[in-house]
Amino acid sequence: MASHSVVCWDCGSAVEDPHLSVCPRCKGLLTIRMDLEPVKEMRPEDLRGERMGVWRYAPFMPADPANKVSIQEGGTPLYRASSLGEAIGVPGTHVKFEGLNPTGSFKDRGMTIGVTHAREIGAKVVGCASTGNTSASLAAYAAKAGMDCAVFLPAGKVAAGKLAQALFFGAKVLSVDGSFDDALDLARRMADERMIYLLNSINPYRPEGQKSVLFEIMDQLSYEVPDRIVLPVGNAANIWAVYKAIKELEEVGWIDRAPMLTGIQAEGSAPVARAFASGSADFVPEEHPETVATAIRIGNPVSGRKALRAIYDTGGFSATVSDDEILAAQRLLGRTEGVCVEPASAASVAGLAKLRREGVVDRGERVVCICTGNGLKDPDSMTLGARAPMRCGSSVEEAARILSG
Ligand code: F0G
Repeated sequence: MASHSVVCWDCGSAVEDPHLSVCPRCKGLLTIRMDLEPVKEMRPEDLRGERMGVWRYAPFMPADPANKVSIQEGGTPLYRASSLGEAIGVPGTHVKFEGLNPTGSFKDRGMTIGVTHAREIGAKVVGCASTGNTSASLAAYAAKAGMDCAVFLPAGKVAAGKLAQALFFGAKVLSVDGSFDDALDLARRMADERMIYLLNSINPYRPEGQKSVLFEIMDQLSYEVPDRIVLPVGNAANIWAVYKAIKELEEVGWIDRAPMLTGIQAEGSAPVARAFASGSADFVPEEHPETVATAIRIGNPVSGRKALRAIYDTGGFSATVSDDEILAAQRLLGRTEGVCVEPASAASVAGLAKLRREGVVDRGERVVCICTGNGLKDPDSMTLGARAPMRCGSSVEEAARILSG
């Protein structure tokens, strides 16, 4: 396994206890410092013997491939989305479709590393709070690893498919009155009591696996750095993971510049975007977050400060989009590219369209939208605004009359 250490992102102290998810000295956020010296001797081609996916990038990962808990995560397509791009005025738009991961979201990238680490430290019961995708993913990886799993979900606010996945994979599902932030607070207290090993993204091993989406994008673009990467921001770990991957590729000399990281939030749930608008490095939590994009309905993003660093340091941007813009972008992506994403994922496309209209994004930019999750998990959102099925008898005449109507 690649040599690494857990350190506090705020005060730099080394953290030895594998069960801690904040610094014991200053309560700061944790991160992992990878020793990349061996990788400096390598080239990207040296990794291509392994199928595309998280474990191709094992020299960048703090877990031993010999212990891996894997369901073949990653290796998702990068579409050249020309029709979508023409429609929104950025012809060089690409879509990285994370909905084709084993449980239908990018969370599987973090979970393969997180659950492998849990196995390495001997954890028996894993747990998380979730807006849905993290719990679906953890439930599957816990099943694969033979571990017990408990998930804490905001009551009534999780898309049907995601809840079904957690139940299907055999997790114990606790429905918590309140928001995701309340559910996470409870899960963290359970972890403090050592009743679960916490696998939310505050666990620094999770973002390590999520770095692989950037490694794959670079592989798929033959290491030509795109101008911009746009992604939805909820608890704010994924944009941080992408940033960390960029910094590591710069460190080993595989790229020499960073794409502008552009984080999109829903209007009713936008602490990071509001902090960016005021030029602040910290955010003010939102008490009552609300959006149709339930996956990113989060008022107090754990990694919000890390996300802001990622955005400022890459010369990126952060903006909000309305629920209507999100649903329109979801439909547009489906009807121009044949790709079905959930509302939170469509926020990236909605954000790109809006920033093009406002002149923040140039027409000539080469952009990758990370579309984080599969629309099939949230069928209610897919049919919002769609035409209802049309009743039809068994005659050709009747069918023809309906179709010409
Ligand atoms: N897109 C989807 C589909 C998500 O499920 C999430 C987060 C995000 C984007 C935002 O990523 O939190 O790293 O900024 N979902 C979490 C969950 C919170 O519980 O499934 P982030």
